[in-house]
Amino acid sequence: MGGITQVSQEVLITLADNEAATVALGAKLAERLPMGAVVFLHGQLGAGKTTLVRGCLRAFGFEGAVKSPTYTLVEPYKLGHKEIYHFDLYRLSEPEELEFMGVRDYFHANALCFIEWPERGEGILPTADVEITIEVGPEGRVARISGPATHNWECMSD
Ligand SMILES: Nc1ncnc2c1ncn2[C@@H]1O[C@H](COP(=O)(O)OP(=O)(O)O)[C@@H](O)[C@H]1O
Ligand SMILES: [Mg+2]
Repeated sequence: MGGITQVSQEVLITLADNEAATVALGAKLAERLPMGAVVFLHGQLGAGKTTLVRGCLRAFGFEGAVKSPTYTLVEPYKLGHKEIYHFDLYRLSEPEELEFMGVRDYFHANALCFIEWPERGEGILPTADVEITIEVGPEGRVARISGPATHNWECMSD
């Protein structure tokens, strides 16, 4: 990870051009995200959204493979008393499909939910507590994190 700029409740984090930088950011997120948080992940295909979730899961002690739930829509992880749900809604044809899979049951106080392509589930998904956008520019990747100021996002630069 490189430089950081903070704008009120938003932090920008420049990611080094290697996967490990995104994994490391995920691990830092694991320290800051409270259980019950709903995290929207934005960014083009290949930006590093799934890599970020993998970093977070590793920090929580999950050692297995983290596959992209592109076809299953959601991948559940149980780590001790924590539940982590990783959604990828890229292939969702309509938000109502989420109703059929009982999506509301996934969002509770003991669950941390990461959602890639959340705009596809608009109207059914709850609002996000934290939004993360990974932008891929000519200078590399920049992660933009916005959420409640009470979470001390500036510590992400440590
Ligand atoms: N900071 C980074 N620099 C270079 N490559 C990265 C970085 N972060 C992730 N990647 C790579 O980008 C590719 C796509 O990552 P992935 O997490 O699957 O993207 P997404 O879920 O946004 O489609 C993977 O090969 C991953 O290793
Ligand atoms: Mg992905």
